Amino acid sequence: MTTQVLTILGSTGSIGVSTLDVVARHPDRFQVFALAGHKQVEKLAEQCVRFAPKFAVAADGEHAARLENLLRAQNCATEVLHGAQALIDVASAPEVSGVMCAIVGAAGLPSALAAAQNGKTIYLANKETLVVSGALFMETARANGAKVLPVDSEHNAIFQVLPRDYAGRLNGHGIQSIILTASGGPFLETDLAEFDHITPAQAVKHPNWSMGRKISVDSATMMNKGLELIEAHWLFNCPPDKLEVVIHPQSVIHSMVRYLDGSVLAQMGNPDMRTPIAYCLGLPERIESGVGALDFGSLSALTFKQPDFDRFPCLKLAYDAMNAGGAAPCVLNAANEIAVAAFLDGKIKFTDIAKVVAHSLEQNFSDGLNDIGSLSAQDAQTRIQAQAYIDGLN
Ligand SMILES: NC(=O)c1ccc[n+]([C@@H]2O[C@H](COP(=O)([O-])OP(=O)(O)OC[C@H]3O[C@@H](n4cnc5c(N)ncnc54)[C@H](OP(=O)(O)O)[C@@H]3O)[C@@H](O)[C@H]2O)c1
Repeated sequence: MTTQVLTILGSTGSIGVSTLDVVARHPDRFQVFALAGHKQVEKLAEQCVRFAPKFAVAADGEHAARLENLLRAQNCATEVLHGAQALIDVASAPEVSGVMCAIVGAAGLPSALAAAQNGKTIYLANKETLVVSGALFMETARANGAKVLPVDSEHNAIFQVLPRDYAGRLNGHGIQSIILTASGGPFLETDLAEFDHITPAQAVKHPNWSMGRKISVDSATMMNKGLELIEAHWLFNCPPDKLEVVIHPQSVIHSMVRYLDGSVLAQMGNPDMRTPIAYCLGLPERIESGVGALDFGSLSALTFKQPDFDRFPCLKLAYDAMNAGGAAPCVLNAANEIAVAAFLDGKIKFTDIAKVVAHSLEQNFSDGLNDIGSLSAQDAQTRIQAQAYIDGLN
């Protein structure tokens, strides 16, 4: 067994903390080269003291100075860096074999792309990377021999039940479709008349999963499932019409693959991200994750239903963007990030999130974007337009 040398981007977030929990269970397997947080420097300092990485990355000079003080006070020798270029540097360093990409939002794209350019094993939690730049990212990974392992629980489940030698051709393996399960979030049964009054505190309270604030809101609007459709499209080279979404409120089945012979293979488990993280980090072996055994005796009935676009207009918008292709998913993502931030700040209503995204998708934007410069320009332009629309709502 060779020791894996890891960079963990987004170490202070929900996925980052779960990753370090798995890493700590296997000190013989993993060595931490770099940890990257953003603004939570106290948490980052604690992680540095515990895991002794060579480098730690903070948001900017001010946060780096605070981190530096905290580390020196505890005689921790970790070198402190800051800013977007430092994220790229620690994702590309020759010593590193694997990069956990767990920054939230499109901010995670340049460092994930750098890991792909440098042929790393990429543990991909940051779904926005594939939404914004699916073609570019997958092609860059392929051209440089980078392995992309899906951490997102649905994609990890699909990855687990696809044939071992799956090479991106559904037909070649008798696969009929890929089925993403969705919990439906906290508002699956809420009266639609109440939707205008949903508060940020209600929206971030997911019934089954403990996650960061942005993805929790995305789960409540089901934009998260929409982003995951686009993610699955790129990861598994799956045409949009072969992707299904089914609501499964218990979050026990994490996703499924439907085969031509009538079989449906599912991956099940408790809703805890340490399972997919351990699966990716341990490959080709299964390693202990700290997640408890699924207790069938105490499970309630497993139920399923079709999603309703009146309740979840963001899911419909994501389907439309996926089918439109080109820059549409990049626009969808940028507008959604601005809208979710405005909702969490109390600036817009829950129901305005879909309106902001729909408005952005109605603007003129370029067709195919296949370089980071034009993707970033489109992303920036959409953010400005979406913000202007939000300002007009108030
Ligand atoms: N949580 C889950 O269960 C889950 C499941 C599947 C997929 N994902 C995906 O994984 C990613 C992370 O989700 P999360 O729930 O872990 O989010 P989170 O708890 O909000 O953590 C986000 C991480 O990114 C850092 N960060 C924020 N803005 C940044 C920026 N501009 N530049 C660099 N770093 C930045 C944060 O640093 P500070 O906190 O220090 O500011 C934190 O470490 C998302 O793409 C999400 O969709 C999450």
